[in-house]
Amino acid sequence: MKPMLYFCFVIVLIRSASGFFEDLDARETSLSYLENDAAATSEPLMVPLTLIQGADSKGAVCLDGTLPGYHIHRGSGSGANSWLIHLEGGGWCNTIRNCVYRKTTRRGSAKFMEKQLPFTGILSNKAEENPDFFNWNRVKLRYCDGASFSGDSQNEGAQLYFRGQRIWLTAMQDLMAKGMQNADQALLSGCSAGGLASILHCDEFRDLFPKTTKVKCLSDAGMFLDAVDVSGGHTLRNMFAGVVSLQEVQKNLPSTCTSQLDPTSCFFPQNLVANIKTPMFLLNAAYDAWQVQASLAPRTADPHGYWSDCKSDHAHCNSSQIQFFQDFRNQMLNAVEVFSKSNENGLFINSCFAHCQSERQDTWYADDSPRIGDKGIAKSVGDWYFDRAALKAIDCPYPCDKTCRNLVFNNDVISEITISQSTRLTFVLPSLLGACLLDVLYIFECAKGFAFCQ
Ligand SMILES: *[C@@H]1O[C@H](CO)[C@@H](O)[C@H](O)[C@H]1NC(C)=O
Repeated sequence: MKPMLYFCFVIVLIRSASGFFEDLDARETSLSYLENDAAATSEPLMVPLTLIQGADSKGAVCLDGTLPGYHIHRGSGSGANSWLIHLEGGGWCNTIRNCVYRKTTRRGSAKFMEKQLPFTGILSNKAEENPDFFNWNRVKLRYCDGASFSGDSQNEGAQLYFRGQRIWLTAMQDLMAKGMQNADQALLSGCSAGGLASILHCDEFRDLFPKTTKVKCLSDAGMFLDAVDVSGGHTLRNMFAGVVSLQEVQKNLPSTCTSQLDPTSCFFPQNLVANIKTPMFLLNAAYDAWQVQASLAPRTADPHGYWSDCKSDHAHCNSSQIQFFQDFRNQMLNAVEVFSKSNENGLFINSCFAHCQSERQDTWYADDSPRIGDKGIAKSVGDWYFDRAALKAIDCPYPCDKTCRNLVFNNDVISEITISQSTRLTFVLPSLLGACLLDVLYIFECAKGFAFCQ
């Protein structure tokens, strides 16, 4: 078994001893929930990993120095010259320690990446699952730099490479040589940290192609707000500040923003989206489940756990907690107001407790998928991309939407998992300790890092 798995068991043990890492468990559960569900179609297409040979000669490497990679499924028929590039998400690392931990995961090293991934939702190859993009060339670019494909730096002492910007550029060059240069249509998308990356790189993507190519961008769950948390602090802003300074992201942020604001502010989409020249679609849940968990009510901002029940299941929130989320939704709507004035831009802000709705089949395109009015997400994105209809869909506030696929984190299930994994630990731990004692420190940091894992 992978050593990484053992580390996680250790974390679970530490957690059950101290109770400190409850948030981590919730997040990990949510992560696997998302991924299991993404794979839950009858027989999803499995697409192999391609490592980008020669990327290392350009310094375009994962955190640990291994080659970056992508999964590609070729287009056919009317989609043969159309390209969808989807940027993988998976949080950020903001300290040396949690970046060093990340090297031991699929988010920081090719060594730990899945050798194949299911292509569902916007990546599906079936017309009945993905009516507008199923026969395009579809690429999922793996995320292994920890700074939304935007850092450019390194740390010799810790043997860390912060090369997100080079990975982005090298991958695009590689794909151009593989036929993307002949594209007549292209769409850059991404979810979560990848949704932020799609905002950051949208105009660069556009500039890869001649003016005659139709190029647009989609950001799914990338609207991370510079919001105040439940204790009045700035949890996400503090974390982003670490990412930006550690990985020297500022040099790759748009100068239209950095000439006006500090670099950390320019990593927040609310200060970027109005100035993107390329047509862009923002798909986001108004009560983004990740932001509720990790930015608004993380355990560090709620040490007594007053928000635990509410953030695991919105049905357990009282009226003042719901009001806090309504304020967040208002901030979300303010953040997209200027953006939404452009006729070329699109918007789908549904009043759900969700995160990443384009890759999951049940949210992207199914009989009971989320809708605003009578239009679902796949149809909305398709209508906007192909100029079939203008799309500026903003849902009425909670609880009016009955079509949501809300994420619910079940505390009982988490405790159950915790107990059984701790039991297994009695066998794992002795052999682990000899080899990996040095990593225990990092594991503590990893837990903090995982607080930002999705
Ligand atoms: C809701 O719950 C929070 C946290 O437990 C508490 O501080 C607040 O007073 C409650 N509000 C109402 C209206 O019950």
